[in-house]
Amino acid sequence: VFKASGLTTLPSILLIGPSGSGKTSLLTLVSPYLLRTPKFAVLIPPQFERGTKPAQTHTSQSPISVECHLPVGKTAESDKYRSDNDPTNLAHKKFLLIDTPGHGKLRHHALDNLTNPQNLKGIIFLADAAILSAGDEGLRSTADYLHDVLLLLQKRMESKNKAAKKLKEIPILIAANKMDLFTALPAALVKSSLETEITKVRTSRSKGLLDSGIGMEDDSEEKDDWLGEVGSKDFKFSQMEEFDVLVEVAGGNVSGGEGPVVEKWWRWIAERL
Ligand code: GTP
Ligand code: MG
Repeated sequence: VFKASGLTTLPSILLIGPSGSGKTSLLTLVSPYLLRTPKFAVLIPPQFERGTKPAQTHTSQSPISVECHLPVGKTAESDKYRSDNDPTNLAHKKFLLIDTPGHGKLRHHALDNLTNPQNLKGIIFLADAAILSAGDEGLRSTADYLHDVLLLLQKRMESKNKAAKKLKEIPILIAANKMDLFTALPAALVKSSLETEITKVRTSRSKGLLDSGIGMEDDSEEKDDWLGEVGSKDFKFSQMEEFDVLVEVAGGNVSGGEGPVVEKWWRWIAERL
């Protein structure tokens, strides 16, 4: 059952995002019961029907990779009338989904995957859309993490690692999760709220640098730690295109409501494989 070969050569999609945003839940939704960690492989008993209900999760402490196939779960709306033999269908696209812990102290696992990527085709940044209202601590912490991920991607060309340099275009999907909750912001608002909050993060980070004296003599260094367009007042995700980082936002929910709504995310994955 367990084939270790080809593990690193499969196209991979990286799941990152703050703790509690739903990364492991999403993974269990597509998991064919076989979970791998860097240290061991375990067969998870099918306590849940595949593709219909995510399993119970706990705060993750280590990354987990799962080999997945598309389509997973429901077939996308536009594919409804296609036969299973239709070559344009999403079937049989194999990929590796990599779940990472969101806890602040364990984020090096996720960031390692960015600085030393293995056939990375895209990044899904999972956000809990129900905690992103203005003034909510969740908005600040989500924007903080996203800022750091985007800055790392922006700076990847300076990396000494060849694999990181090879990532020419890097697509990143901000998956606005938990849309089943009534406090969840719609995707368009998730996008603009995060842009506004990242603008604040960016400003406070650059002030922090000035206060600490770093970059005082050599202000080019300070500019390197500035996310997006230099001199811009407001941060916009579109400013990342300059660095071949392509950001999209799409809403959905892994659990709750009348079952998972993940079609937009699967479609996004399918388009990147
Ligand atoms: P870390 O492992 O700590 O980084 O968190 P995580 O991102 O893996 O979160 P996890 O998947 O463990 O989910 C956290 C909680 O959110 C769980 O109780 C899930 O059941 C719940 N959850 C996940 N997705 C949804 C959703 O779409 N809607 C609702 N209502 N709850 C969700
Ligand atoms: Mg987890």
